[in-house]
Amino acid sequence: MQVKSFEEYQQAWRKSVEQPEQFWEEIAGNFQWRKKWDKVLEWNFKEPKVEWFKGAKLNITENCLDRHLEKNGDVPAIIWEPNDPTEDHRVLTYRQLHDKVCQFANVLKNNGAKRGDRICIYMPMVPELAIAVLACARIGAIHSVVFGGFSAQSIADRIKDADCNIIVTADGSYRGTKEVPLKSTIDDALVQCPSVKRVIVLTRSHTPVSMIKGRDVWWEDEVKKVETQGNPECPVEEMDAEDMLFILYTSGSTGKPKGVVHTCGGYMVYTGYTFSNAFQYQPGEVYFCTADIGWITGHSYIVYGPLSQGATTLMFEGIPTWPNAGRFWDIVEKYKVNILYTAPTAIRSLMSFGDEVVAGKDLSSLTKLGSVGEPINEEAWHWFDEKIGHGKCPIVDTWWQTETGGFMISPIAGVTPTKPGYATLPLPGVQPILVDENGKEIEDNGVSGNLCIKFPWPGMLRTTYGDHERCRQTYFATYENLYFTGDGCLRDEDGYYRITGRVDDVLNVSGHRIGTAEVENAINMHSTVVESAVVGYPHDIKGQGVYAFVVSPGKHGDEEITRKDIIMTVSRIIGPIAKPDKIQFVSGLPKTRSGKIMRRILRKIAEGDTSNLGDTSTLLDPAVVDEIKAGAL
Ligand code: WTA
Repeated sequence: MQVKSFEEYQQAWRKSVEQPEQFWEEIAGNFQWRKKWDKVLEWNFKEPKVEWFKGAKLNITENCLDRHLEKNGDVPAIIWEPNDPTEDHRVLTYRQLHDKVCQFANVLKNNGAKRGDRICIYMPMVPELAIAVLACARIGAIHSVVFGGFSAQSIADRIKDADCNIIVTADGSYRGTKEVPLKSTIDDALVQCPSVKRVIVLTRSHTPVSMIKGRDVWWEDEVKKVETQGNPECPVEEMDAEDMLFILYTSGSTGKPKGVVHTCGGYMVYTGYTFSNAFQYQPGEVYFCTADIGWITGHSYIVYGPLSQGATTLMFEGIPTWPNAGRFWDIVEKYKVNILYTAPTAIRSLMSFGDEVVAGKDLSSLTKLGSVGEPINEEAWHWFDEKIGHGKCPIVDTWWQTETGGFMISPIAGVTPTKPGYATLPLPGVQPILVDENGKEIEDNGVSGNLCIKFPWPGMLRTTYGDHERCRQTYFATYENLYFTGDGCLRDEDGYYRITGRVDDVLNVSGHRIGTAEVENAINMHSTVVESAVVGYPHDIKGQGVYAFVVSPGKHGDEEITRKDIIMTVSRIIGPIAKPDKIQFVSGLPKTRSGKIMRRILRKIAEGDTSNLGDTSTLLDPAVVDEIKAGAL
């Protein structure tokens, strides 16, 4: 499956464009199917309808677990590094992981889970999170993992949207010196969610929790029951290639987060193929992705992609800066990590602690590096290359999205010549195109445009859960017959792609997508707020920071208290990740005569660039701009 030279890459890419069905059929042949497909691809972007490997039968966990057992049962599947470096680490071989997944799949069944049920998972980064995800997949239940940093309200919205009947969680989680009470957040969420019949709670932090009779059960007790029943195996549920595998919520420019839907067959083929190729994974290598499984990066490149390829995947429970800013490098040294996949925000943050933190760490095991989540600035790229890779590790800057399921534009390690700041070239199977505002294709190189994809790939989203029209509107209606990514992009003279950032009202804060509308809605819920507008601004570590312009008389006129209250409100409504970094109180927002907020102006002010605010003559009250400019933070 791996291309081994730049020529092979070019051939593979050409074939994937000229004969996409043959191309993907061959790749799919590397996976285990219970029954082969009737048709490789059926599609139109109008509805949209995209079906890959229709009629095929499979179970993704058979590909991620069972098929490795005979030859590689003793190979480590998951290495787990706890938050506290003095606590013992854990290693689960493929056989052990298989057995634990079967066991927990039986726990789910005992607790009433059936094929097609939606199961919400809200857990710390412990092996049981991966086990819960795979156990759902094994029995054909659809998982909806919610990142541990989301609030009770956000969880409740997601549980209700997907109508989940079971929750898997833990008493609490550790992040550095903090203990996060997960179960109690779930309890708050469940006040609004009568559809939930069962909550399975893993013991992790021994945080006191309330256990409601008839609804809440302990993970460990349920596993014991399965053990005494003596049914260690759990046969896989035979799924159709186009059956749903999971839902993952992500923010857009409008409304509440959407449940992006991925399906069993295409997603498996795509994540496996892209993982194997981009990282040129070799048997025996230790691969460490620093993301959380609560995001798409963790789904595709901690769990499914690596495991389908029989890789050893390292999971880290803690944070990069605790007990000190050398933690990642200690982990690399401890487990002789070969491939390190992380985010620019982490790189910038660790850079800021100075080179002493890296000096003296043995990073000689590293052979390949990866970056994801946001554009990587050249300074961070070079630091990563020199201080971490010692100039000998190719950096794969992987551009992709929750919606794409897997890497789209990315170097292939050691194969594609790289350029700092560039995601470089499309992987085989990916047909990017740049269009101007009117949807006209930009054919010249050296020009920026809006990044679209013109042909389906197996890992693409199929719908947004429960609302197909929203999927069409968001991704397929802006430009006819194209999937619109929401990103701006430059294609340089060599045909290399450089992602320049979102062109819609979505912020990318520390690599996390946050919709400005969502933050505004949360701010507006605060009792003294009249209205607000949220934009991004360049932030040294986070990439983008959240800047809120707020119209509010304030609590008894005390701005400082109101500011703190607003931050608390956003934390409660969305979660701490969406907290505004700056709040500027203003007497009004710049609006057009038709009442539309002129975000362009606010964005410039937030960026500190007020030299040329463009045409403000159409504003209802141009004077407000001067006031906002004068008070800018
Ligand atoms: C941004 C994360 C530049 C982009 C996998 C995209 C990137 C959004 C890169 C998706 C990259 C991701 N270079 N920008 N290598 N990778 N992005 O859904 O704006 O959390 O649209 O998926 O992150 O974020 P999401």
